[in-house]
Order: sequence, then structure tokens, then C-alpha cells
Amino acid sequence: MINVEESLLLKAYRGERAERAPVWLMRQAGRFLPEYQQLRERFTLLELFRTPALAAQVTLQPLERFELDAGIIFADILTPLIGLGFELEFAEGTGPRFSRPLEPEALPGLRVPEIESSVGYTLEAISIASQTLRVRGIPLIGFCGAPFTLSSYLIEGSSPARGMHKTKRFMIEHADAWHGLQQILTDLLSEYLIAQARAGANALQIFDSWLGNLGPADYREFVEPYLRELIARVRVAVDVPMVFFSTETSALLPALSSLNADCIGVDWRVSLKDAERLIGLPVPIQGNLDPIVLCSSRERVIREVRRVLEEGKTLKAPHIFNVGHGVIPETSLDNVSLLVKLVRGEL
Ligand code: CP3
Repeated sequence: MINVEESLLLKAYRGERAERAPVWLMRQAGRFLPEYQQLRERFTLLELFRTPALAAQVTLQPLERFELDAGIIFADILTPLIGLGFELEFAEGTGPRFSRPLEPEALPGLRVPEIESSVGYTLEAISIASQTLRVRGIPLIGFCGAPFTLSSYLIEGSSPARGMHKTKRFMIEHADAWHGLQQILTDLLSEYLIAQARAGANALQIFDSWLGNLGPADYREFVEPYLRELIARVRVAVDVPMVFFSTETSALLPALSSLNADCIGVDWRVSLKDAERLIGLPVPIQGNLDPIVLCSSRERVIREVRRVLEEGKTLKAPHIFNVGHGVIPETSLDNVSLLVKLVRGEL
């Protein structure tokens, strides 16, 4: 049996060089797969998340089709917020929505729920999926949203609009409530990540998708203390690598280096080489193919995947091949299969 700890992905996250870059794709379980679409005709998104056998099945779908180096558990960054008392809806076409956005006055009423009773379904799905994958020597990635990105959904009530004015006004004008909220989310998320690792997740990724809306000074004041605390608390409890992913944050990369993450995920707006220079430490870097490439021609996929791979090889620490942000629903299956073969050196 292949030992998961010796898998290419976990080696790369630990900083060990291997014969090739490992590859997995953000949002690899999702709408671009016809078998996922078929399940979605029968179940709502929340039903899929909340039924461990189904969530495990969706997690494994991309791995049955493509020779990827990791699975990522099928859940959403927003599901743990339901346990805080927020009603979450995934409406067709409009994306996620909370029925009542968070007001500063509501803060004293928020209580961190017991993790087993609020997201036990995801922990169970992790346990099922990781057992299946372990036999194949494939690691399973657990994840959570970062306090800042989750706050932006709670405050705006839906996917944050460009500029994120409501979130930023809350942050600046109600600083006490902001810090209180960040602490509650940090408590919740650290317990959630620790529970995921104990349930079988072999690595953990923190998604701070909307962090690029902040400048370095605001990042340091309103965000950084909580990210550091989150990573530090998980690290003392469980021994699994942690990845920090964000987008549009080239200007924050110098600051992100002090988070003590095992790997930094970057989008395509920065080159891997520049990302390494800006981070300033030889830390493993994950990314950063523009997902739109996977909707284009075979020639373009070959050219762009090779370009990212070649650049990855010049880095001081290992490169983990991924897209720079989640794969989009229009993605071509043939292109994903081509991408995986290229990274594996089979073409
Ligand atoms: O990567 C994976 O395959 C694992 C599953 C996963 C989902 N969401 C399932 C999902 C992960 C890692 C996420 C993270 C997530 N969710 C993020 C951070 C990463 C990113 O993309 O920036 C964010 C911001 C969300 C919030 C969210 N959930 C949005 C904005 C939407 C609707 C828009 C969209 O992309 O579809 C969702 C719904 C959602 N979460 C879907 C999936 C597969 C769409 C499912 C469907 O409609 O059937």
C-alpha cells in the first residue's frame, strides 16, 4: 500500500522536492463534471453537503476521471456559519445568500457552536472519503474560509460586490464589533480545522478569496492577528500542512510570509517567480493557471500549462500545480485531462 505521507502532495507541502509537481484543482468537484450535474438534478447543494455519503461521493468524482494528486472535501466555506445562527441559502443562479446580514448590534448574541453538532456531516464525509483515498495513497484536503472572507459574506449578505464598501465600513466604523467577530470566527474555524484533521484530512487550506480588497495597513490591523492565531492554534493541535490561498494580493505577499503557512496559494495575476520574490522566503507555492485557459483550445492549454510548469521548476521551494482560482463550470473535460497528463509528464 502506498503511504499517504509519502505522496507527492504532502512531500511538496513539507518542502521536499520530488520528481514532478503534484497537481490538484480548486473546485475540482463541481459543475464542470456531468456526473456532478446529474446528482444536482436530484439533490440541492445543501442536501449534498449535509449527507456524508453523497458529499464523499462528490469528493471522489474528479479522482475517478482524472489522475489528480489530492481530493478536496466537498463542502462550502459558508456551511460552518449556519451553526452561528445564520440562515444560508444557495439560490439558483445568484450564489449564496444569508437571509439577515450581520449588524454590529447582533454581535453579543453570537455563540460558537459545538463543532460536532453543527458540521458533523462534513467531518463524517471526511472520514469516509479519506479512508477510500488512503488505500490509493491519495491525500484529502480539508478547508475553511478565512475570517475576513467569511465576514464579508455575513456583512454583505451575499457575494461581496466590488469594493466591498459595506464590509469595509463595518470594519472601520464599528472596529470593536469587527474585532469581536474576527475572534468568534477564529475560535470557530480553529476548532473546525482541527476536527477536520482528526477526522482524516491530510492537509488544510484556508481560502481568503476576497482579501485583495484590503491594503497592507488595514490587513495588518484588521486581519493578520486572526490569521496568525488561526494557523498557530491548528498547528499546536494537529500535525498537518496548512496552505493559505488568496487572490489579488500581490501587494500583500510580503506580509503573508509571516503567517507561518506551509504553502502559499497565488492567482494568475502574479507570476510564480514574482510571488516567490515578494514572499521573500523559499516557501512552497501553489498555483496559478488562469482557469479560463481550460475553456480554450488544446494548443493554448499545452502552452500555458508548460509555461506554468517551467516557471514552477525555477522556484527554490516545491511548486504545487493548481489553477489560480476555482475551475469554472464551462471548463472542458478534455482540457482537464490534458492538463493532468502534461503535469504528470505523460505528454
Ligand atoms: O474545491 C472543491 O472542489 C471543494 C468544494 C468547494 C465548494 N466551495 C463547493 C461549491 C470549495 C473549496 C468551495 C469554496 C468556496 N465557496 C469559496 C472559496 C474559493 C473561491 O472560489 O473563491 C467561496 C468564495 C465560496 C462561496 C460560494 N459557494 C459561491 C460564491 C458559490 C456560488 C458561485 C459558484 O462558484 O458556483 C458557491 C456554491 C458552490 N460551492 C458550488 C460548489 C461546487 C456550486 C455548486 C452548484 O451550484 O451546484
